Amino acid sequence: MKINLKNQDQISEMRIAGQLAAEVLEMITPYVVPGVSTEELDKRCYNFIVNEQKAIPANVGYNGFEKTICSSVNQVICHGIPSDKKILKDGDILNIDVTVIRNGWHGDTSKMFLVGKTQPHNERLVKVTQECLYKAIEVVKPGAHLGDIGAVIQEHAEKNHYSVVEDYCGHGIGQVYHEEPQVLHYGKIGRGLEIKEGMCFTIEPMINQGSKYTKLLSDGWTVETKDGRNSAQWEHTLAVTESGVEVLTKRSEESF
Ligand code: MF3
Ligand code: CO
Ligand code: CO
Repeated sequence: MKINLKNQDQISEMRIAGQLAAEVLEMITPYVVPGVSTEELDKRCYNFIVNEQKAIPANVGYNGFEKTICSSVNQVICHGIPSDKKILKDGDILNIDVTVIRNGWHGDTSKMFLVGKTQPHNERLVKVTQECLYKAIEVVKPGAHLGDIGAVIQEHAEKNHYSVVEDYCGHGIGQVYHEEPQVLHYGKIGRGLEIKEGMCFTIEPMINQGSKYTKLLSDGWTVETKDGRNSAQWEHTLAVTESGVEVLTKRSEESF
């Protein structure tokens, strides 16, 4: 397994890409309201990245994907395709996942949105999933293991009677969008690869209200829960520092 460790200059580049990706999620937030189509949200993100940020939307053309964002509503786990037929309605939960390339370097992040007035059970799913991400970030430092990340996510999800999606995972990131290592969202403390300074990877837990099982729709992209119950996801791109971790895609509402 070849892990690309990044030096300070390369992490500075990653920080810029990460901040641009975070700013896309901040920019789009006021537009996520009942009645808007996911296609309109996609177009706004595309125009912002290309025209204002002068950057590249990494998803466009990635393995044949044609859109800038993944927009995953309710029972969609990930990789939902924006469409003018998909109109957000009151009570939906939505994940927007965006990756920006700047000067050859990638920043990959996603957040959940509550559309209009949502039900408490959905708000709880979204909150616990964010806590899973935050608890995982807290254990990242040189000398820890990738299994520690999976273990804290799995423990927090299962304690709340949710399940962890196992079919998709986080990933190393840099000049390549998806590189080694794979970052599983379940696991055991002390297992898996040892984390080293200079590693850059995403953590992006997908947590289900019902069972962990997934199904891929016939469009070849959209991943839904097999049982039709809702799913949530949050994602950050991280750099491992000498003493801990830097969240490269941190939004201004967050502090780490
Ligand atoms: N951003 C996703 C991830 O977190 C990948 C999306 S690939 C796409 O790794 F083609 F569906 F956009
Ligand atoms: Co990712
Ligand atoms: Co992503």
